[in-house]
Amino acid sequence: MFITLEGPEGSGKTSHIPYLVEFLREQGHTVFPTREPGGTSIGEQVREILNDLKNTEMIPRTETLLFQAARAQFVEEVIRPRLANGEIVISDRYADSTIAYQGYGHQQDLTQIKTLIEYATGGLKPDLTIYLDVDIETGIKRKKNSEEWNRLDAYTVEFHKRVRSGYLKMAKAEQWITVDASQGWDEVQAGLKKVIAERLEPTK
Ligand code: TYD
Repeated sequence: MFITLEGPEGSGKTSHIPYLVEFLREQGHTVFPTREPGGTSIGEQVREILNDLKNTEMIPRTETLLFQAARAQFVEEVIRPRLANGEIVISDRYADSTIAYQGYGHQQDLTQIKTLIEYATGGLKPDLTIYLDVDIETGIKRKKNSEEWNRLDAYTVEFHKRVRSGYLKMAKAEQWITVDASQGWDEVQAGLKKVIAERLEPTK
């Protein structure tokens, strides 16, 4: 089973995932946590280029292609073999981040973006997507307080507003599970565990 977590900046995905992994393992599942961009040696190198605040000249098409390069490697090297092995792969972001950020955020043609994603992933789609929704002001404030301020975080508030509204459209159209991430950390964690428990039977 392939689970993805999506959300705008500061939605807290990254801090929640280790606890979800632990929760699933306690229930007897074999779980492999990973993240995008990254998750492989090549992907982590691409991630450095993408996140580097010095790369101010990067145009949206370059950005879109770099994300797909990292993703192609990630799908073949990590996700498909783990899934074939019967594991649960839980990924901090996946292809829908490209639709939200490069598609809605940078206002690139969505049909072309989806074709590139199809090429990069060989058509691999998540079985379950959980969307952590937070308003931009709250999210950016949280992110600025963390150590992880990167090139994409530094895009304008308008960019991040388009990202969130793109996510909200996708969440509705594709029946993702939405968790309100503006709540306190404990409430969000409880909400996530509930969603997962409803969909995955314990194996022990
Ligand atoms: P990261 O530090 O992982 O941010 P976060 O904790 O918010 O997930 O950086 C990943 C950044 O890359 C984030 O700003 C979202 C962006 N991104 C895209 O723009 N397109 C993509 O396809 C992916 C996977 C990520």
